[in-house]
Amino acid sequence: MDGPAAFLPQDGPSPRTAATTAEPRENPRCPSPEPPALTSADAPAPITAARITDPTAHRVLTGDRPTGPLHLGHYFGTRRNRVRLQSRGVEMFVLVADYQVITDRDLADRLAEHTENLVLDYLAAGLDPERATIFAHSAVPALNQLLLSFLSLVSVAELSRNPTVKDEIAHSSQAAVNGLMFTYPVHQAADILFCKADLVPVGQDQLPHLEVARTVARRFNERYPHADGSAVFPRPEALLSEAPMLLGTDGGKMSKSRGNAIPLGATEDETARIICGARTDTDRRIGYDPVRRPGVSGLVLLAALCQGRAPETIAEEVGDGGAAALKRTVTESVNEYFRPLRARRAELAADRGHLRQVLRDGAERANAVADATLAEVREVMGAV
Ligand code: TRP
Repeated sequence: MDGPAAFLPQDGPSPRTAATTAEPRENPRCPSPEPPALTSADAPAPITAARITDPTAHRVLTGDRPTGPLHLGHYFGTRRNRVRLQSRGVEMFVLVADYQVITDRDLADRLAEHTENLVLDYLAAGLDPERATIFAHSAVPALNQLLLSFLSLVSVAELSRNPTVKDEIAHSSQAAVNGLMFTYPVHQAADILFCKADLVPVGQDQLPHLEVARTVARRFNERYPHADGSAVFPRPEALLSEAPMLLGTDGGKMSKSRGNAIPLGATEDETARIICGARTDTDRRIGYDPVRRPGVSGLVLLAALCQGRAPETIAEEVGDGGAAALKRTVTESVNEYFRPLRARRAELAADRGHLRQVLRDGAERANAVADATLAEVREVMGAV
């Protein structure tokens, strides 16, 4: 990530960074990378869920690309928080960002299957389709009409200096960068603004995208107010996850593309095999030191999350047992914690028709909301 995300330097009289506005985080956790410096007036000031005093006063929008099965890093990083928000009574819109899949790959490989599997993982993790609106991007055409007017509100220069886009381009395996890659932060702004979400759970790396959504909302409201002067869009805030970043079995960030992840839907035997092959070190005494011993500490953290206890306590308990004892503890903790979720997942997986119905119902609700927002947008813009 190089270069600041200064979208509107002329509007930014009081520079502030995400780092100074973020809440102090709690243990257990691994250190996360430095957040990108956001300096404009639109830089989000992240809040944490603990600060939500009236859950019913908010609408949350979250989303994922359907590129493959969810793993434990996803689960502890964000999915568990969504279910917690849901149970506190916050209204949730959960987006399967199927169009985003073709930003950095040429083919939308097995898209319907991945989309349904993502819904399966959501439901297994506890999202309730009666309370949450779960829908796919491509099923909501009004979203793309909003995108069109939003694209007129950002400059090409702003798009090309978005640090997250730059980073994705750097890691993309495509020979040429396509247009969708540059415009997807604005697409994402449409995802957030179509349902007038005011809270967006994000990781640090997604903060620049939220900044784009806030810029788009502000410029739209300035340019096209209602006749009475009121604004069409709320300015969404970032809801930072307090969860630790889970490391993969090689001690790096857990990611399906790195082949170091434990899938949510893995069997108990597969889980044991994956953990058994995890990279550790030769120091027999187990400790929790994410910087110097990432492999061992990643495993300790995983057991800690599953047991709901501090990683230091887990490390202390395994003590001189070495990597073999640690791996046994981790395998048991993971399998025990995920047993009910996996049983629910297996039941749900047997009924693909139900998964498709969840997506159809979600699309119907999302379309009604998107159509209403589009009608409002057309009115303030003076379209026929
Ligand atoms: N970019 C997100 C991801 O890669 C998915 C996403 C699409 C999203 N639209 C969004 C996230 C809107 C938050 C808000 O997983």
